[in-house]
Amino acid sequence: MDSNTDTFRVVGLPGDGIGPEVYASACRVLLVLQETFGLRIELDEQLIGGAAVDATGSPLPQQTIDACRKADAALLGAVGGPKWDGNPAEQRPELGLLKIRAEFSLFCNLRPIVTHPALHQFSPIRPERLRGVDLMIVRELTGGSYFGKKWRDREQAEDVCRYTVPEIERVTRAAGRIAQQRDSRITLVDKANVLETSRLWREVAHRVIREEFPNVKMENMYVDAAAMHLLTRPADFDVLLTENLFGDILSDEASMLCGSLGLLPSASLNEDRFGLYEPVHGSAPDITGQGVANPYAMLLSVAMMLRHSLDRPAEAGALERCIHDCWSDRQLTRDLLPDGLTTEQVTRAVCERLAMAVNST
Ligand code: NAD
Ligand code: IPM
Ligand code: MN
Repeated sequence: MDSNTDTFRVVGLPGDGIGPEVYASACRVLLVLQETFGLRIELDEQLIGGAAVDATGSPLPQQTIDACRKADAALLGAVGGPKWDGNPAEQRPELGLLKIRAEFSLFCNLRPIVTHPALHQFSPIRPERLRGVDLMIVRELTGGSYFGKKWRDREQAEDVCRYTVPEIERVTRAAGRIAQQRDSRITLVDKANVLETSRLWREVAHRVIREEFPNVKMENMYVDAAAMHLLTRPADFDVLLTENLFGDILSDEASMLCGSLGLLPSASLNEDRFGLYEPVHGSAPDITGQGVANPYAMLLSVAMMLRHSLDRPAEAGALERCIHDCWSDRQLTRDLLPDGLTTEQVTRAVCERLAMAVNST
């Protein structure tokens, strides 16, 4: 933040596919926050992903990194798509995302999953199991098989899954702090019956919690069983702490508790204030260009940005309340309702409510 003017600097990264569509929705909400709530936000739009590959040859140009260095937060739509699927590894859109996570040490990925009664009917899970679901997936984001040594020849390929003690300690501390603000329970999800990295996770994570968070309870669960328990008794979870790949898979699964992948926001944080905020979903090539993408995951990511990087919890709460009101009012896109609204219609509904909410914050 520029302390002289109280202006927040946000880097906008529209990306690919429906990325620019949901990003445009976020920009509209940011405009209301500026015009109505008096927030000052300087938006600096930059390239990432396939769009960056096409324009510069790199999925994360140096200019984008430099812009993020000067910013309080970055807001990303999505990256990737069939156009670039055949590209060599160095020119894949997804590498832009992995590189920005590594460049800014965004090791702590928060993926909140909260069910809302108005949406219970859209989940494939029975409504009685959805009541009271409020869990937080804390996914380690800069280690494991995503970032280990990789190679391939004609006969074989390898992705090394490596974790160090400090990597496990820092994300466990983050999970411990989050648990203390919630129900003080962590489920450590791993595959310690098979994987050596999981056995290190168990040893280190339990030590950190025992020594530094004596009031927090930590239980263990194998990832295969967790995939099942998430669907049968989701309300039993509080904080779910896990490594990079397991967290990726479990969060898409958990989105079905809410009804659509288009509803889940995320925050990727480091030890400082800078954070990257993005929907959990991808670029959705199957619906790109139709104007029907669900913008709520992106808008809830804006709320997370207001709370975690811009220190504006009142505005974050106001935005979240407006979104929940819209859900109750069935302002929903086609992924939830067969005759659902367009991205534009949903965005307008949220913006109108937000503009009226200014007096109640
Ligand atoms: P996806 O998340 O893009 O889509 C999965 C399904 O969910 C599709 O049917 C899609 O239409 C639907 N969906 C997702 N978001 C939606 C929304 N906001 N509104 C309505 N429906 C929505 O996953 P995929 O198809 O496996 O991957 C497509 C591309 O996205 C790939 O290139 C992948 O690498 C990339 N990806 C990027 C990110 C990211 O940028 N953070 C995350 C996941 C996947
Ligand atoms: C996510 C995505 C990314 C991941 C891909 C696009 C690299 O699936 O953010 O969940 O696997 O982390
Ligand atoms: Mn994913």
